[in-house]
Amino acid sequence: MNVLVAGGAGYIGSHTCKLLSKKGYKPITLDNLSTGNEWSVKWGPLYKGNIRDVDLVQSIVKKENISAVIHFAASAYVGESVKDPLKYFDNNVAATTQFLAALIKTNVRKIIFSSTCATYGVPKSLPITEDTEQKPINPYGFTKYCIEKLLMDLHASEGLNSIALRYFNAAGADTDLEIGESHDPETHLIPLAIQAAINDEPLIIFGNDYDTPDGTCVRDYVHVEDLAWGHIKALESLETATGHKAYNLGSEKGISVLGLVAIIEKATNKKIKIQYHGRRTGDATELVANAQMARDVLRWEAQLSIEEIINTALKWAEKKTKEKL
Ligand code: UFG
Repeated sequence: MNVLVAGGAGYIGSHTCKLLSKKGYKPITLDNLSTGNEWSVKWGPLYKGNIRDVDLVQSIVKKENISAVIHFAASAYVGESVKDPLKYFDNNVAATTQFLAALIKTNVRKIIFSSTCATYGVPKSLPITEDTEQKPINPYGFTKYCIEKLLMDLHASEGLNSIALRYFNAAGADTDLEIGESHDPETHLIPLAIQAAINDEPLIIFGNDYDTPDGTCVRDYVHVEDLAWGHIKALESLETATGHKAYNLGSEKGISVLGLVAIIEKATNKKIKIQYHGRRTGDATELVANAQMARDVLRWEAQLSIEEIINTALKWAEKKTKEKL
């Protein structure tokens, strides 16, 4: 089966392409390389272009005989989305609308969409199930929520079948170290904390006055290879499933910023210097998944522990520095 992977040069996209290829699918990447990396596209062709280019999308679908699409292409920084909501509505909502229109015209009816736990906002209770009310508190989460709703409506109007995968915090790197996280600028906690440990630089922690045991935010970190596997399971499910479904993909284990710092200190045998700053606008206090629905329906469950996440992230950080990736 030939699968169009929009945003396949990105972090989760490239890990998914690798696994798709291993499982006998052909991943065809469409990426404008605005944040993705050309070196991470190794398991199928790369079309450089924008998802809003209707002619390009239609020609790829026809030429490559595409039967399903996985859509990762988006801007995905919570903090940036608060500062520049126009960019997020344009890249994540307007561009995706064009993309979906092109796919519908070419008769693609199976779509897997990268969604996020940021669509839940501040959950009323934890852990978060798919039934938890979606009330995003930042533009990034809201744009993802908009597309979930659009996909739901497109089932009714166009017979589009789709699955939204609501990722919790993607982390770690390919266990073979062929690919890994490489953002510019890097804003994510794990790579920044690893850099702080290795280079003996301070790590800024945004807020230590949250209502959590140690005052720092709690997140659910899930290995990027586990997320990639979630997409394979979703594709398999779309062979028979119709309508629109959403699944949480998380480890179901909450860990605070300081808890993570302690694990990284242990793994690197280095002390991290902490600087506390005020809260980052758009951050929820605690986001932890209940992934029972993915377990029951998709037969998916996170396999890799936080120690394995840190271990692969650490090895990848060393390789990235050495090879200047
Ligand atoms: N944090 C710091 N210092 C930093 C960076 C982050 O204290 O230098 C804190 C944040 O405030 C937050 C936690 O570490 O409490 C995790 O922050 P990340 O930036 O690593 O991740 P986010 O939770 O903000 O966002 C990520 C993805 C989103 C996704 C979200 C789901 O970037 O796309 O996880 O929670 F929606």
